[in-house]
Amino acid sequence: MRIIKNTVPLDSSYVPDNLIFREREISIISDIVISSLTKGIATPLWVYGAPGVGKTSTLKYLQRKIKNPRILYENSLSHGSVRAILISILAQLGKVVPPAGVTYKQIFTAFNDYHRENNQSLVVVLDEAAHLYKDTEGIYNLNRAQELYNVSISPVFISIDTPEIHSSFREQAGSIRLETLRFGKYSTDELFGIILDRAKRALNDGTWNEEILRYVAESSEEYGSARVAIETLQKAALLADHRGAESIEPDDVRSAISIIDPYVTESKLLQLGNTDLIILLAICRVLRGSISTNVKEISIEVQSVMEEFPIRGADFRIYDTIRKLERLGFVKGIIVGMGDRKGVSKVIQISDIPVGVLSRKIENILSVIGR
Ligand SMILES: Nc1ncnc2c1ncn2[C@@H]1O[C@H](COP(=O)(O)OP(=O)(O)OP(=O)(O)O)[C@@H](O)[C@H]1O
Ligand SMILES: [Mg+2]
Repeated sequence: MRIIKNTVPLDSSYVPDNLIFREREISIISDIVISSLTKGIATPLWVYGAPGVGKTSTLKYLQRKIKNPRILYENSLSHGSVRAILISILAQLGKVVPPAGVTYKQIFTAFNDYHRENNQSLVVVLDEAAHLYKDTEGIYNLNRAQELYNVSISPVFISIDTPEIHSSFREQAGSIRLETLRFGKYSTDELFGIILDRAKRALNDGTWNEEILRYVAESSEEYGSARVAIETLQKAALLADHRGAESIEPDDVRSAISIIDPYVTESKLLQLGNTDLIILLAICRVLRGSISTNVKEISIEVQSVMEEFPIRGADFRIYDTIRKLERLGFVKGIIVGMGDRKGVSKVIQISDIPVGVLSRKIENILSVIGR
C-alpha cells in the first residue's frame, strides 16, 4: 500500500488523544456530572445528537482521562435492561452478584460496598439508551439511586433523541432531575480539522492534499458527522491504493461516498427502539412490491412481523412511530387528496435505500435483541 501507512486512525473504534471541537461538551459534562459527584451529588445526564457527532467518543475520552470518579461504559444494545447492565458493571468491578432474582437493593448494596472499599464514586455510561425505553423500573431505580439506596452513581445516557420521546423518561419527568446536553452537527471546517488530523496520522505524505480533504469534508457536511467524513476518507484511500495510484483523486472520494451511505443508516438503526424497528420492517416489507403504502397496510403487516419477532411488551402507537421515523429521515410521509370530498390521507415511502437491504439489517438487529 502506497497511500495508507497506518490503518488504525481511520478505524471506527479509534478515540483520538485529543478530542478537538468538543471542549465545550467536555467541560459541561465535567461540571454537571464529574464535579458534582466529587461533592457527593449524583446527577443523571442525557446526552443526545445526530449519529457520528462524537457522543460515544467524548464519553470514552473522559473515561480515559478521569480516574476518580471512575467512569464505566456499557452499550445498552448488548444488555437490554438496566438490571443486566448494572450486573455487568459490578462484574467489571469484581463484585459478582447472581443474575437470577437479584433485587435493586442488593445491586446497589454491592455498589455501596465498592464505594466504601475503594473510596471511589461511579459514573455509568449507558450508550444507545433507546433500547432501555421499556425499562421504566430500571431507569427509575438508577436515576434515584442516591435517594433510594444512598449510593453515589451518576448515569449518563446516550441517544440520538431527546429524552421526551422515550416513555420511561416522559413518565418520570416530574420526579427526577435529568440534565440534558445536545451535541450539534459538525461544520465543514470542523470536519476538515478532524480528518486533517487523521490524514496526518494514517496517510503517507504527498498522497493527499488539503483540497481533497476539503472535498471530503464538504461531502459529509449534510450529515455533520465525523464518522461519515472519516469513513469517506478511509474508503477513498483504500480505493486509491487498490487502483495502485500515487495519490487520492476526487473520483476516489466520489466512489467512497457511494459506498458508505448505507452505513449511515445502520448506525441510525442501532439507536431505534424495538417498536420502531418492527414498524420500519413492516413498512419495508409492504414496500417490496410498491412505491408507497399507508397506515392500514402497515398495521396489518406489523402483526405478521410480530409473530416472527415476538418482542415482549411492545407498545404500538403506529402514528407516533411513523412520525418519529419521518423525523429521523427513514421514511417520507406525503399527504395526498383522496378525490372528491373524501379528505386527505398520508402515504409512506422510502427513497434513498433499497428496502431489501434495509429489511435485512433490521432483521439482523431484531434477531439479536429478541434473544
Ligand atoms: N471531535 C472529534 N475529534 C476527532 N474525532 C472525532 C470527533 N468526534 C467524533 N470523532 C470520530 O468520529 C467517529 C464517530 O464518533 P462517535 O462514535 O463518538 O459518534 P456518536 O455521536 O457516538 O455516533 P452514533 O450516534 O452513531 O453512535 C469516531 O471514529 C470518532 O473517533
Ligand atoms: Mg455512539
